[in-house]
Amino acid sequence: MAESALCKKKLDGKVVIVTGGASGIGEAAARLFANHGARMVVIADVQDEAGQRVADSIGLEHAIYIHCDVSDEEQVKSMVGWTVQNYTQLDIMLSNAGVGSRSDQTILDLDFSELDRLFAVNVRGMAACVKHAARAMVNGHVRGSIVCTASLASCTGSDKYLDYFMSKHAVLGLVRSASKQLGVHGIRVNCVSPFIVATPLVCHVLGVDPEQAEEVEKIFEPQSPLKGVVLKENHVADALLFLASNDSAFVTGHNLVLDGGHLNS
Ligand SMILES: NC(=O)c1ccc[n+]([C@@H]2O[C@H](COP(=O)([O-])OP(=O)(O)OC[C@H]3O[C@@H](n4cnc5c(N)ncnc54)[C@H](O)[C@@H]3O)[C@@H](O)[C@H]2O)c1
Repeated sequence: MAESALCKKKLDGKVVIVTGGASGIGEAAARLFANHGARMVVIADVQDEAGQRVADSIGLEHAIYIHCDVSDEEQVKSMVGWTVQNYTQLDIMLSNAGVGSRSDQTILDLDFSELDRLFAVNVRGMAACVKHAARAMVNGHVRGSIVCTASLASCTGSDKYLDYFMSKHAVLGLVRSASKQLGVHGIRVNCVSPFIVATPLVCHVLGVDPEQAEEVEKIFEPQSPLKGVVLKENHVADALLFLASNDSAFVTGHNLVLDGGHLNS
């Protein structure tokens, strides 16, 4: 293959929204998408300082931070509307913002106020982002790509974190149904399902200081059937780029599992 093809920028001129782009997987994706020629990456998050820092470090000609709590549909609607107003159209929505369980959440002790808190972001927020991105794409006649961050928790059960596992199963249902409903408009909808990455979300669930993320990796590395590989944010960002770009032009309704063979073992 010619070198020029290998170095091809995969998102040349695209307008992208990344929710949860202030940290972890979303931050890695925002940086990769900008490196791949995105005209503008709109980072939507509730961590204002961190989000602004990511936008500043990418460079304000290609990234901008906007405060948006995805659990509030009005905020999602106006964030998407603002993006279209300022950058003409929306080509790619990465709906990635999410939160983890704050307690064990087994069925016998399920705390519904905790479940509601988590579902407000992981399920309602995800659906609001898909809804308003899809509306903007349909209205703008854009054959866009919508990608959600699900989780390996979308494919399995667990002895705890019931609310989180339920929420990620719901993301899969959202993606599969929305992809059927939006195919007629040429809009693709997919998700990724990563195994564990030592981001702040995971550190908080495990009660580890995010500064000690390497300790989390040491716990999970021996569980990986793929010897010597620890899943990092950039691996997930690569998969997100594949689904966001035309490299996956005939892929829709798909759940791209990044588990190092975990489900297979
Ligand atoms: N880290 C993992 O092991 C893992 C595995 C599978 C899936 N995921 C999913 O990946 C996604 C990103 O998580 P991460 O691991 O990078 O964690 P993270 O905590 O580093 O990033 C999550 C981001 O979402 C933002 N966010 C939270 N609530 C929000 C809201 N209401 N509105 C807008 N933004 C909000 C946070 O501020 C944060 O910047 C989540 O959906 C998570 O469920 C993570």
